[in-house]
Amino acid sequence: MPSTPLHGFALAVGVIGVLQGPVMTSLAPAAASPAKQLIAHRGASGYAPEHTMAAYQLAIAQHADFVEPDLAVSRDGVLVCLHDDTLERTTDVASVFPDRYRRADDAVGGEKHWYANDFTVAELKRLDAGRWRGPQFAGERIVTWDEMLTAVRGHAGIFPELKSPPLYRARGVDMSGLFVASVKQHHLDEAAALAEMPIIIQSFDAQTVREMARALPSIPRVLLTAVDGDVTGTRLREIATFATGVAPEKHVIARHPEMVAAAHAAGLTVTAWTFDAREPAGYPSVTDEMAHYLYTLGIDALFTNHPDLFPARRR
Ligand code: G3P
Ligand code: CA
Repeated sequence: MPSTPLHGFALAVGVIGVLQGPVMTSLAPAAASPAKQLIAHRGASGYAPEHTMAAYQLAIAQHADFVEPDLAVSRDGVLVCLHDDTLERTTDVASVFPDRYRRADDAVGGEKHWYANDFTVAELKRLDAGRWRGPQFAGERIVTWDEMLTAVRGHAGIFPELKSPPLYRARGVDMSGLFVASVKQHHLDEAAALAEMPIIIQSFDAQTVREMARALPSIPRVLLTAVDGDVTGTRLREIATFATGVAPEKHVIARHPEMVAAAHAAGLTVTAWTFDAREPAGYPSVTDEMAHYLYTLGIDALFTNHPDLFPARRR
């Protein structure tokens, strides 16, 4: 179970400023830092096929504080856990439904894409979502949001991302509305539920984060960004009017390390993505890389594909 909900940082930013001091080293003792939060990116996706039950269960076994589902919407309005808008990278859709593709840009001869939103959940459940990562994962299925909740509840928090809202808007699908209705149906926004299973909502789409602020004010929400212009002091203060945290791509933070203190001063948590053992970005190991961001740069949380390599649980 998460020891300290991440949104607690938003309440403790004044304390953070005092505790961190002007210089933090990667060897800072646990007592000098608030708990850092480990988010299993698409589950333990460095080891198991992303967004499958195998990946989520392994994330729990590796003591993730939060498990991340990216969310898509099926043709019949069911929230499912999927990163891509389309199915061909992570499933055998091209074999199971060979004729159900759209051409890119409707161009004759353009690339074929099988959009998840073109399939009912029953059809999605026919797909193999594991074999692409190896025969030992054959038979893994696309997981629905409800199934994910059942599997994770009581073991970790969840960090759902509403993926590609503009795509759904263009199709007349109310993704935010579906998500809010589900959260309320399960009473997940109530204090007792949040104490048992912390939730933090994320999206790259500022409109969606604003919608979450209005509809689900008790749930922290984070604006994702890969844009340098989103980490200026002015922009961070604007983000703080509707979000409780900002989640820049890690190289944005590396280019602008002063943004961590500026975000904290604005009342925002800082979460970085994504850390992978196969690409430690010039560090001796991904553990060293994660430690640098957490303890030298002072971020609060990070997404990693390898939860077991999170640095030493310096809590
Ligand atoms: O949501 C944090 C991070 O996962 C954003 O990147 O593309 O993996 O969803 P992506
Ligand atoms: Ca994501």
